[in-house]
Amino acid sequence: MFLIRDKIHQGSPVFTKEMEDAAVDALRNDRYLYGENVVKFEEEFSRFVGTKHAVSTSSGTAALAFILISIGAEGKKWVTSPMSFIASSNCIIHAGGIPAFADISLKDYCIDPDAAEKAVRKNKAAGIIPVHIYGQPVDFDKFAEIASEHNVKIIEDACQAHGAKYKGRKIGSLGDAAAFSFYPSKNMTVLGDGGMVTTDNEEIADICRKLRDSGRISKYEHDLIGYTARMSSVNAAIGRVQLRHIGNWNNKRRSIARIYNERLKHVDGLGLPQMPDKNFEPVFHQFVITTERRDELKAYLDDHGIETGIHYPIPIHLQPVYRNRFGFKEGDFKNSEVFSKSCLSLPMHVFLEDEQVRFICETVEGFFDRR
Ligand SMILES: Cc1ncc(COP(=O)(O)O)c(C=O)c1O
Repeated sequence: MFLIRDKIHQGSPVFTKEMEDAAVDALRNDRYLYGENVVKFEEEFSRFVGTKHAVSTSSGTAALAFILISIGAEGKKWVTSPMSFIASSNCIIHAGGIPAFADISLKDYCIDPDAAEKAVRKNKAAGIIPVHIYGQPVDFDKFAEIASEHNVKIIEDACQAHGAKYKGRKIGSLGDAAAFSFYPSKNMTVLGDGGMVTTDNEEIADICRKLRDSGRISKYEHDLIGYTARMSSVNAAIGRVQLRHIGNWNNKRRSIARIYNERLKHVDGLGLPQMPDKNFEPVFHQFVITTERRDELKAYLDDHGIETGIHYPIPIHLQPVYRNRFGFKEGDFKNSEVFSKSCLSLPMHVFLEDEQVRFICETVEGFFDRR
């Protein structure tokens, strides 16, 4: 039973007895690293996404960087979204490439395909990393067209989009390869750091397998300069349990999103995310609204016990390290800059009760009714 005085958290990972038992069992009975749970998690995750291969890693960042290294990103430019977590671009630098950006569309908050094509041409880029931001699938067919016209690779950043679908196909199975994150805030997590590469390309999968494991081909023989970036068996055991529930959890998130959308679509001056339709099945990792009065609304909701988030207050190109290293400046990607000043992530997690969601909507309405 929800009491008005209870604080409503913005996000909340799931940890159950089933996961605790799986973790303890893995610690007692499995190898700590690369045990049976890791092998099974990879098999089950590749089946879930619908790719031939899934290669676990220690993080989503490692998964992205290893894909790029495996396809020879070094010395080449890669285009990604400035409105994402910084790892969407850092991975390019980790792989020895050079990041370039294309602005987002204010319709779906994802990288705009037309802007991406221009950026590919201008930078003679080797590929694009579209980010399915907040679990919203990008309009992938447009990226596939760019790929065939310009002969570039498409690597999906699926770190926020476990289970999302585009035209009936799972996110993570659309591009040359994709990367997922299992960081604790994600729709599914291994309750620690963890990541996964998904691909149909055997060569990419083989190289990623080696890269995460010190470049090994056998115990003490190495044919690549690799990293220590494996997933532990305990984390994999937890991931396997979460994978069994992700479908229901995503349904729950979509049902929360529907309540938000129904109640808030009448509020003047409020931007709402795209809702599911026959081509796009988002999974609402976040439910992000936009308003020019973002900071005021955030403080007001906080005063009413409603925690919110900002994803993200600084676009990647304006991060100090990117300004200093690459000379990006304000005005370079205007939609992303406007969006970063107006976006607000409402509470979104599977423990939210409908009554709480309605209370959040009433409070947002109350804010705009005052004047
Ligand atoms: C869009 C996006 N890309 C990449 C990453 C990197 O994942 P990780 O934190 O597991 O390295 C994250 C998650 O934090 C993310 O949200």
